[in-house]
Formats: sequence, structure tokens, C-alpha cells
Amino acid sequence: MLHRLPVEAYTGQDWFEDELAAIFSRTWAYAGFAEDVSEPGAYASVRAGLNEIFVVMGRDRRLRAFHNICRHRGTQLLRAVGKTRKAITCPYHDWTYDLEGRLLSVPDEQREFAGVDKSCLGLKPASVDLWRGMLFVHPDPDAGSIMEWFGEIEPHLGPHDVDALVEYPKARASYNIKANWKIVVENYIDVYHLSHLHSGTLSMYDHAQAEYGFIGPHYAFREPLAADYAADIERNADLPLILPRDQLGVWVPMLFPGIGLAEGESSWSTFTITPLAPDLTRVENRTRVKDASAWEFGQQALRSAGFWKKAVTGKYAGEDDDPLASGDFTAEDVYACEQQQKSLRSPWFEVGPAARGESPVLEHQEVVLRFLEGRARWPSTR
Ligand code: FES
Ligand SMILES: [Fe+2]
Repeated sequence: MLHRLPVEAYTGQDWFEDELAAIFSRTWAYAGFAEDVSEPGAYASVRAGLNEIFVVMGRDRRLRAFHNICRHRGTQLLRAVGKTRKAITCPYHDWTYDLEGRLLSVPDEQREFAGVDKSCLGLKPASVDLWRGMLFVHPDPDAGSIMEWFGEIEPHLGPHDVDALVEYPKARASYNIKANWKIVVENYIDVYHLSHLHSGTLSMYDHAQAEYGFIGPHYAFREPLAADYAADIERNADLPLILPRDQLGVWVPMLFPGIGLAEGESSWSTFTITPLAPDLTRVENRTRVKDASAWEFGQQALRSAGFWKKAVTGKYAGEDDDPLASGDFTAEDVYACEQQQKSLRSPWFEVGPAARGESPVLEHQEVVLRFLEGRARWPSTR
């Protein structure tokens, strides 16, 4: 057992398939930033468990989501993110749909399809909603309001005005981690490791003062700035802060399933997880700031102020090829996740006792179990 789940929950194909069906196909999935789909014909496609879905803005500027499946023989219609189009044409036999999902035309209709009723062959709708500057989709067209799903956790998130921030494109990244998606989530919500694995990289925050816990299936976490860092910020009057100076701190929630946020004093980031295989997980990071050039200047100012430099490059500075020496907390996390996943194959593997700061790990495992056993009774888990 890995606490509440057996090892095969992290390695087995059957578990993985069950999770795609019972968790990722029955909850709201992150589909990008609001501005990705902000004009008629723009679209974004996304995987939601067993489903492929795309969001498109119609000529009426309404967002709609559809299953990304041609009604002829099922070919995927759209890939990635893009700016089209007045219509959506299947690459296989050119069946063409309008932006509202209606089947417009079928090539050689008279000769090939005597009497076909195009009005019954529109794209199958899914649900779409916007929340905190992000697009979300749900495979069920009757999923209801997204606030049924995120409403209870929202008061426990940062007081950021997300819609007023802009993306900082240089911070955009996506990468694969050779570990099960739950290992990646568990690492994100493991409070115990912050002062250890990240002793050289995340000491800007006061982990001893962290407050955390689950609200329904979602995890909330916040902690204040460390005193030295707060003093450095105090000394820099012109930093592009995104919070009022009397409300500084960091909020690092993990919304179920696998939507991490890092809402800080000068940047607001997403950490979104897509399970690819039992031992492979894709992560995408995007960041919003108040103003991109001011943000770069601000980081520079803090670096030269001393504390931040010490905190970020810390005790490992100068040993670049070692992930634990990179000065990058993400590299440290990836390393820890992948090494943990490797050990699961050993017949000698056995998990030890859980620290208090690891209680979220156990609670997350319980949430996963509730979904798999059909005991999940939160709204919008259809
Ligand atoms: S599968 Fe799309 S047109 Fe044939
Ligand atoms: Fe970490």
C-alpha cells in the first residue's frame, strides 16, 4: 500500500483506465486561458479523460463546447489551439459543420447519401464555462454551472483579480514527468517537503505558518512571506505586486483533479496535469503578471536586494547539471516524483508513516477512492 491506495494504483493500466472514466471524464477539465478563445472562430481542444473536446466561439460571440468527433466516422476535427474559421471541416471526407455545431454540408450528398437528414447529425455538445480567467469543459452537456463545482473552494483562494492580469509568455512551459499523475499531485500538496527538498528554492515563504486542508474534493493552501523576503519587498516601493501590500502571501491550491494554482504576491500561475499513461504525466505551466516588463524589472530588483538571490540560488548554486542543484524548484519536484515512481517497481518497496504535513496526500487518496467506488457525491460529478 501507498498509505490508502495499493501500489498498482500508481502503476497499473486497469487503475489508470478506471480513473480516466470515473474521475477525468466526470469532472470539469481545464482547457486554457480565456483569451485563447476570444473571437468568433477561435478554438481550443482538450482531453478530458476518455473524451476529446473543443471549445469554439460562435459568430454570436458565445462559447460552445463540442465533442471533437466527426459524426460520420468519428475522426477528430480540430487539434490544439487555433484561429479559424468560418466553419469546421473534417479532414477525412470533408463533412463541414458551422461554429454552432450544425452539419452544413456533405460532399456528393445526392450521389452518396440518398435521403440523409443532416439536421440529426450535428456535433454532440459538451459544457463550457469561464472561471478565474480560465476555460473549463465538462463532457456532459448538462453539467450545470461551474460554481457548483468550485464555489465552495473559491473563498479559500487568493484575493487576486485574475482578469486584470496579463500572461507572461516566457514563463509558459509544458513537460512530461515520468510518474503517475497522483504522485505529481501528492507532491504538489505535500507540505512536509517544502522545507526540505526546496530548502534552497522556496524559502521566501514561511512554511511553519502554512494553513491547509481539503474543501470537498479540492485542496486549499496558503502561507505568509518569510520575514526577510517581506522586508525586501518593503524596501522596493515600485515592485509590480498583484496584491495589496497588507495582503501579501501565497495561495497554492490543487483543484480536483490535477488543476494546481500558485497565486503569489507578484505572479499568478497554473500547473495543470494531464495523465498520459500510468507512469507518465503531462504538466503545463502558464503565468499571469501585472505587466510583463515591469515584472522582469521587479524580479531583478529583488535579486539585487539580496535575500531573493540567496533564497533562489541558495546552497546549491553553481552545480547546474544536478536537478537538485539547479536552483529551480520545479526541477527538484520532477526529480522527486520520478525517483519515487521508480521505487514502486521494487518488491522491497514499502511506505513508511505519514507526517502531519502529509495529511493532504492521504486525503487526496481518499477522494480518488470515493470517485472510483462511486461514492463521490459532490455536485457536477456526473
Ligand atoms: S469521418 Fe469525418 S467526414 Fe468522414
Ligand atoms: Fe515541491
